[in-house]
Parts: sequence; structure tokens; C-alpha cells
Amino acid sequence: MFKAIARFFKWLFGSKKPLLEYDGKILSPDGRTECMVRLLNGQVVYSVQKDGKSIVRESHVGMELRGDEPLLNGLMLVRAVSKTFDETWETVCGEEQYVRNNYNETAFYLSESGGKKRLFTLRFRVFDNGVAFRYELPPQPEFQKLIVENELSEFNVDSNSYAWHIPAYQPDRYEYNYTRDSIYELTGSVHTPLTIETPTGFFLSIHEAALYNYGSMTLKVDGNGALISDITPLSDGARAYVELPFDTPWRVIMIADNPLELTMNRMIFNLNDPPKQDFSWVKPLKFMGIWWAMYVGEWTWAEGERHGATTEHTKEYIDACVRLGIPGLLVEGWNNGWNGDWLANGPTNDFVHPSADFNLEEVAKYAEAKGVSLVGHHETVGYIDNYERQIDEAYKEYADNGIHYVKPGYAGAYMTVQGRREYHHSQVGVRHYQKALELAAKYQICLDVHEPIKGTGIERTWPNLLTREGARGQEYEGGALFPSHATILPFTRLLSGGMDYTSGIFDVSNNVKRMATTLARQVAYYVTIYSGMQMAADRPKFYEEVHPDLFTFIKDVPVSWAKTLPLLGQIGQFYVVARRDRYSDDWYIGGVTNEEARRVRVSLEFLDGEYEAQIYRDGDDAHYRENQLSLVVEKRRVSATDFLDIWMAPGGGFAVRLKKL
Ligand code: NOJ
Ligand code: CA
Repeated sequence: MFKAIARFFKWLFGSKKPLLEYDGKILSPDGRTECMVRLLNGQVVYSVQKDGKSIVRESHVGMELRGDEPLLNGLMLVRAVSKTFDETWETVCGEEQYVRNNYNETAFYLSESGGKKRLFTLRFRVFDNGVAFRYELPPQPEFQKLIVENELSEFNVDSNSYAWHIPAYQPDRYEYNYTRDSIYELTGSVHTPLTIETPTGFFLSIHEAALYNYGSMTLKVDGNGALISDITPLSDGARAYVELPFDTPWRVIMIADNPLELTMNRMIFNLNDPPKQDFSWVKPLKFMGIWWAMYVGEWTWAEGERHGATTEHTKEYIDACVRLGIPGLLVEGWNNGWNGDWLANGPTNDFVHPSADFNLEEVAKYAEAKGVSLVGHHETVGYIDNYERQIDEAYKEYADNGIHYVKPGYAGAYMTVQGRREYHHSQVGVRHYQKALELAAKYQICLDVHEPIKGTGIERTWPNLLTREGARGQEYEGGALFPSHATILPFTRLLSGGMDYTSGIFDVSNNVKRMATTLARQVAYYVTIYSGMQMAADRPKFYEEVHPDLFTFIKDVPVSWAKTLPLLGQIGQFYVVARRDRYSDDWYIGGVTNEEARRVRVSLEFLDGEYEAQIYRDGDDAHYRENQLSLVVEKRRVSATDFLDIWMAPGGGFAVRLKKL
């Protein structure tokens, strides 16, 4: 280690004299995006332009440290090292089979000119569709540990821009409705990805990539009217405790000419490393659940007469999975801890022992014999020390029983650890989620994390993280979810990776949870909302007996895609996307609209050959409140020269399977 450090210092200070002033730029591979980096009066600022138009005005970078001088002033440039990178990599599953990762990079090696002469590196990567940078802190004799008091990464975009935002530091974590306001109107801190429309017509999203061992970045408006990082604090106010060497997460500015192009931005995955171990065992999954029956009050998570997760019910659901051709089944409420007030039981929840009426081994054997993959469930209520005491044994128990999918949940308003209340998205939370993910990989378990840490592309490195919830999903139906929500998600939350929206609920007019959706829209979600684990969330009878015609789409639609083509959309209004199955020549189209009815004319120019279009759409009199069930299922022969003219009802949507003939 010491030799390596000595070599690094020797190389760094090699022959050249450090610069006290610098002004340079990094161009994207296509030359349209420019990142300017300037060293002036001992401080570093950066700015970004596209096609000569300002995207980010001069913005500061730096870090405040507890018990030490900030890393901000008195800097000189010791070296600048540039490179070009271009690769195409294959995803285990996802919206695309192949992802291109092409950028120009410059690493600026900086040193303080006085004091402790601390060193750090600012590494910038400029892609055709955005700019990213991070702070890298090498080990140094007089600088080995640090407490980040705050990070000072500014994103000085025009404050007249509009932003679609959800508030940070709230009890329901990321599960809020988006609002659109000018940046200068933002109060408090907001979560990322923060999607922005500039007055010059660009669509940006500010986010982060490769979040490890650090508080997650939220954004707020600083005294100069610029967006600035607000790293989620720990309960003692510090943002992170780190030992050197340490690299911060990447600060990411996605840039697009229009909202649809933004949805294709894969920078956050490209800014993560390839996997370091074999993940060929990871398989995306479609699954039903002993779940919605609890939400609509038919069954309970708790034991008793109406207990959902009994051995008997689970076997019945497994049989239904076989009949319906759904290969997975989630079982919630199987373990001890649900009786009484389950939220209050958090500190003592038991993740190892099944309740008296649930025989885990028997159920697991039955599922295996029927070829159905069980999805286990751990509701921690955020009491992560209680969970971490049991997690190894709990994952091992699942793996020993052939269970290779788990849905962990963190439904508390905070993470609780040793009596301290910490934010889910603080360094403590980030470390916990990572620990669980790595342990899951050890047992070949795939995760669908509810109340997760936000997605920062780490599923490139850890593909067993198949999906997350992490936004307001269908569990909020029954009053708190509006049709516009699903037309905002593709441009905001879904830029951070897949989401388990718990789609496919056909009992849309249930009195307990009356849903703001038409029936047809429920199947559109399988295409409009990517998720490496897709739930068919309703009870089997609604698929087998009530709407078997519509269920055909859920049965057919794949989970993993070869290609994604966003076709039409405006944030908050509508969204239409086509995707090609990874394992066949079939294409699928999904479309959703907000509270307004809308007719779309979808060109099929992406087809090659003759196809049968199997269309599931709103009936001409459908409406998300007044007439939810009006549905048309029809077939047509089509090819590349055809168009599909489809009407979406208020709060409606459609799905099409294009089957190659
Ligand atoms: C919250 C999750 O979002 C939901 O899916 C789950 O059913 C409940 N927690 C109970 O674990
Ligand atoms: Ca939730």
C-alpha cells in the first residue's frame, strides 16, 4: 500500500509545474456537448453547454469537512489526464440487451497549495447525452479519514426552468405525487432524479450514479438561486464518515433535446462497474402474490381466520400460477410478527420462523414440484438492526428451501438502528441496502426492494437487484393516485431504473380500493413501466373468471427486452413506448394518458415483416371513474407501413402485442 501511494505521488508531481490557473473544455464524442472546467483564484468551477446554448452556468464544486478546512480553496492543478472510452455491454435483463458506453473523460488532479496540501481528483465524463463528475480522494499521510459536513456540488441551471419534483426527508420516503414548479419556487430539498425543462427547450435530469457508503444526494436552491447538493444527513448531522481512498457517487446531468430522448438515457448504468462475479443464475420473473387480497381487506397479514399466507392458500395460489402460466408467487405474512399492529412489531419481527399455519418446507417443496418460483418476504419496518441480526439465517433458510427471490420492505418513516432514527437514504441506509444485496448474491437470491434506496445504476454491478418500488405505486390506489402519475414516472423516477408498480389489477372498481384507471390501462403498465420482476397483482379469480381475455396480455408480455423505442409523450400528459422481446421477434406497445382522453396515431415503421396486432384498448365510452370496464380486444394484420389509431379514455391506456407471423 505505502509503495503504491509513493508511486502515485511520484507520478502525480512528476515533472510538470502545478498550474494556478486553468481554463479547458471536454467535448462529448459527437461534439455537441461541452463541459468547461476553470481554475481561478484557487477554486474550481464547471459549466455545460449543448449546441452552444447554456445548460449549466458556472457552478462550484467542493466539500465541507467536520473538524477540518473545506476542500474548496487554494487549489492548484497538478495534472490533467484525458481519455476516450467506448464499449458496448450486455445487460442480464433490462430495457435493452446492449448498452453503449461512450464518453470523453478528463481527470483533474488537484492539490491545495498551502496548509496540509491535501489532494483530490475531480473526474469529469462527457457523454453525448450528459455530463458526470465525481470527487476522488486518494489516501494521504495527513489525510486518512474524513467526516463530510456537506458536499458543495452546484448545478446552476436557469432557475426559470420547470422541475418535476417530490419532497425529500418525508415519512413516506419517495412515495409522493410529483409537482411541477419553476426552480426558483422550490422550497426545501427534493429528491433526484430531478427532471427539468429549460427555457431553451432542453430536458435535463440531475441524479447520481454508483451510490455506495455515502448519503444520497437531494437538491435544494442555494442563496444564489442555483441548485446545490444536499447530502442526506445522519442523525448527528454529518453527511458521511469515510476512510480514504474514497470516491463519491457520480453527480450526473442527463441532457436531452426532448422528453422521449431523456427516457433513453443510460448514463447511470454506464457509470457503474461491470459485475465482478457470475450472475448467470439471475432470471427476471413474472409473479402473482398473496398480497392484494390483503389490501382489499379479504385476507389479513396477521394470523387468524382470514390469514392469507396459510399453507393451504399458498398451495391454491401455486396451482393458480400453474393454470395461468405465471412462473412466480410472492407470499406476504408468512412469518411471525404480523399479529396486532405490524408497524409497531418492527423491533421484534421474526424473519426465520413461519407462523403456525404456514409450513415453509411443505410449501417450498410443493412449489418446486409445480415449477413455481416462490418470492419470499421480509417486512423490516426499517428496524435494520433487528433485520441484520437475522438476515444471514433468513436468506440461508430461503436458499436451502430453493427460494431465490425475496421482497424486503422498509415501511417505517425512518430506519431505526440502535435506537437512532436515520433516513432510509442516509449513509446508514445506503450501507444496509448494500449489505443485504451482497448477502443475497451470496445465496443466489434476487431482490425486489420495497421502500428502497433510490436507483443509481448499481444493478449493472449487482444484477440480482432485479427491481425496486421507490415511488408511489398502485398500493396508493383508492384515492391517492391520479392518472397523470404514470405519465410522469417514465421521465422522472424510471430514469433511475425499473419499478415494481404492482400492475395488472383488474378489480378496478372494488369499493375498498377504487382505482383511478380503466381496465385496459392495467396491462399498458407492463410495457410503460419496466421492472425486472413484474407482478400480476390481482387475485387469480379476476384473471381466470372475470377478465380472461385481458389476462392473455399479462401471460404473453415478456419481462426483459431486447430494445426500447419511446414513440410519443409529454411529461404529465401521455407516454407511448414500443419494446421488442429479448427472446423473440415480437414487439409490444404500451400507452397511458392522464385525466384527458387522447387519440394517438402510432407508426409501425419499426416492424420488419408481417405481424398480427393483438390490441387491448379502452372502449369508446370508457372513463377512469365513470366507466372503467369498457374494453375492446381486437386483432389486425399489420406491417411497417401501417399505423395504429388508438383512443385512450380519460385515465386510460392501451397495450398491443405484435406477434410475428
Ligand atoms: C409496504 C410495501 O410497499 C407493500 O408492498 C407491502 O405489502 C407492505 N409494505 C407490507 O410489507
Ligand atoms: Ca411502498
